[in-house]
Amino acid sequence: MEIKNQQYSIQGIPLLEIARKYQTPVYVYDGQKILQQVAALKNAFSTVNMKIKYATKALSNISILQLMRKAGTGVDAVSIEEVKLCLHAGFVPGDIMYTPNCVDFEEIREAVDLGVMVNVDNIPMLEHFGTEYGNSVPLCIRLNPHILAGGNSKISVGHIDSKFGISILQLKHVLKIVEAYELNVAGLHVHTGSDILDAEVFLKGAEILFDAAREFADLEFLDFGGGFKVGYKDGDITTDIADVGQKVSKAFQEFCKEYGKELEIWFEPGKFLVSECGYLLVKANVVKPTPATTFVGVDSGLNHLLRPMMYDAYHGVVNISKLDGPERVYTIVGYICETDTIAADRKLKEVKEGDILAIKNAGAYGYSMASNYNSRFRPAEVLLMEGRDHLIRRRETFEDLLRNQESIEL
Ligand code: LLP
Repeated sequence: MEIKNQQYSIQGIPLLEIARKYQTPVYVYDGQKILQQVAALKNAFSTVNMKIKYATKALSNISILQLMRKAGTGVDAVSIEEVKLCLHAGFVPGDIMYTPNCVDFEEIREAVDLGVMVNVDNIPMLEHFGTEYGNSVPLCIRLNPHILAGGNSKISVGHIDSKFGISILQLKHVLKIVEAYELNVAGLHVHTGSDILDAEVFLKGAEILFDAAREFADLEFLDFGGGFKVGYKDGDITTDIADVGQKVSKAFQEFCKEYGKELEIWFEPGKFLVSECGYLLVKANVVKPTPATTFVGVDSGLNHLLRPMMYDAYHGVVNISKLDGPERVYTIVGYICETDTIAADRKLKEVKEGDILAIKNAGAYGYSMASNYNSRFRPAEVLLMEGRDHLIRRRETFEDLLRNQESIEL
């Protein structure tokens, strides 16, 4: 978002115009920013054979998926529905990795039938896989490296108390199963958490993965998951992707040499690719002074952007209706029937009712975690590409709320 001709704009398009044209609340995505992030990641790993498997769950609109496909990424899907969305968006099965957790084996069967690689996350599933497919279907194994990483306990998933992956301590057991069923293990995977700052965490994960990989004869790739941290506010420390790229690539090259084969290295970023591209535009319905604070109540809430309430996540807020004049301190809240603070004690250019606020970092886990709580419609989504705006999802309507409901004779 930049200021151009006294307007907050993206690709030369004033955001106020988007708010006027599509009404609020509306999610807006800067497609150019997504392409930049893809390029930065490719650049950071240019010396190794790196494949991006975009974490679909972060933002699964099919137009975003199509943009990713055009940018040359593959995808990671965590449900059979996401697998089907990716296929619908034009990904071929070979571009899709299916990383399920605690699903019925029927979903695994469906994924295999669709030709999609499965990332197996527990020992019973590994045995079941062996029984059904033997060595006829290549697979990946998700290991839990027991590393505590990530910005919040709810998004740290590689530690000993986590439900994800097969414990690295069970490697011996895994190897027995692999041998007994002659499993065709093409890859090993770790994902330790989200909002990870440090190259060291990735290196630690790498060491554990390399140690495990030495036990497998015929690997094709190692998958390091996602988790790169992006900036949420000025001065935030973020993952230095060039630094991670350089350090991890070096370690990876050394490992490949020792392994005797040039493997692929995979990453599954969600936030890194789509967090900063997204803005949720909302309208100030009321400016309400109270003894403790001045609230700005907007036409959205935790139903549309859950992250502040769920993870205490910081999202920058800008009053895009006002460029000049004094700032005041506000707490921005939603219209939901319980506390739904979007941002507390923030300095904004003086807010008047009807002003449009832009909530930043709304691309990743914004719309994809939105709900109909309070029977509100989910917002529209607009993608900006090459200076043009494209509606990529209509705002819901009353019919959408009623769809699938049955009214019965009582
Ligand atoms: N790969 C796997 C196996 C994952 O479980 C995840 C995220 C990713 C990749 C992508 O992680 P990312 O690069 O986006 O950090 N809703 C939370 C984040 C949950 C992440 C779950 N897994 C949030 O809004 O912070």
